[in-house]
Amino acid sequence: MARITAGIGTSHVPLLGRIIDIGESETEQWNPVFSGYDFTRQWIADEKPDVVILVYNDHATAFDMKLIPTFAIGCGEKYRPADEGFGARPVPEVQGSPDLAWHIAHSVIEQDFDLTIVNEMDVDHGLTVPLSLMFGQPEAWPCLVIPLAVNVLLYPAPNGRRCFNLGRAIARAVSSYDEDLNVQIWGTGGMSHQLLGERAGLINQAWDTAFMDQIVDRPEALAEIPQTEYIRETGTEGSEMVMWLVMRGALENKVTELHRHYHVPVSNTAIGHMVLKNDG
Ligand code: DHB
Ligand code: FE
Repeated sequence: MARITAGIGTSHVPLLGRIIDIGESETEQWNPVFSGYDFTRQWIADEKPDVVILVYNDHATAFDMKLIPTFAIGCGEKYRPADEGFGARPVPEVQGSPDLAWHIAHSVIEQDFDLTIVNEMDVDHGLTVPLSLMFGQPEAWPCLVIPLAVNVLLYPAPNGRRCFNLGRAIARAVSSYDEDLNVQIWGTGGMSHQLLGERAGLINQAWDTAFMDQIVDRPEALAEIPQTEYIRETGTEGSEMVMWLVMRGALENKVTELHRHYHVPVSNTAIGHMVLKNDG
């Protein structure tokens, strides 16, 4: 049987990808940010997940005003790192897991969730930066990846409750897949940040900390917070955090927090990172 063994939450600030790509992640300036991932890099090398369901948002790279799926699942064989204006990142191609992805699509749609099925797309920093943070600079990514894209860019965006319930449906789908697979689910984006406008630079450490506390022990209460509160309290881009709730919804009620890291600021953004182990 396939099993979701753990969840990871992490920000995806593109600058961090750039710093890894140019080999500067261990400098004095950057070490305080990247050392917060040391635990996870070691832990994940031991865990060896077969497949990661990577919940992320596309930033008008694969999807734009022509087509904006609320939730989209990648069922393709592979995905190229996108050119976001400065050339594609020098990172490996992402290998998909089409059989499991189609199974999840089938099961989740039968559970009344609308998923858009994507067979071809390039993946932007929302997906590749988390891979770099966990795995560094390998020749090939050490696991298969199922991209699960959530629209948090254009309103209406889904609320936390719906994201949490999608996670639940994904967990049911994975546990009904016959092959023995170690599956992880990652929720990415956040923490508080607003990149543009009058409130650019907004960071709310108290809110972010409460979010990280509650995602462990009170995820159902956390899931009730509407999009408008994320935006008011954590900035327009802070609302990316709802994607962590897809991850949390896919885990058991009781989880163990193995690791937490929070750093302010990176770019204009608070970055956060957690590792949650499924106790079930
Ligand atoms: C930054 C953060 C993001 O989440 C993003 O998508 C782009 C930029 C930043 O902090 O610079
Ligand atoms: Fe982002």
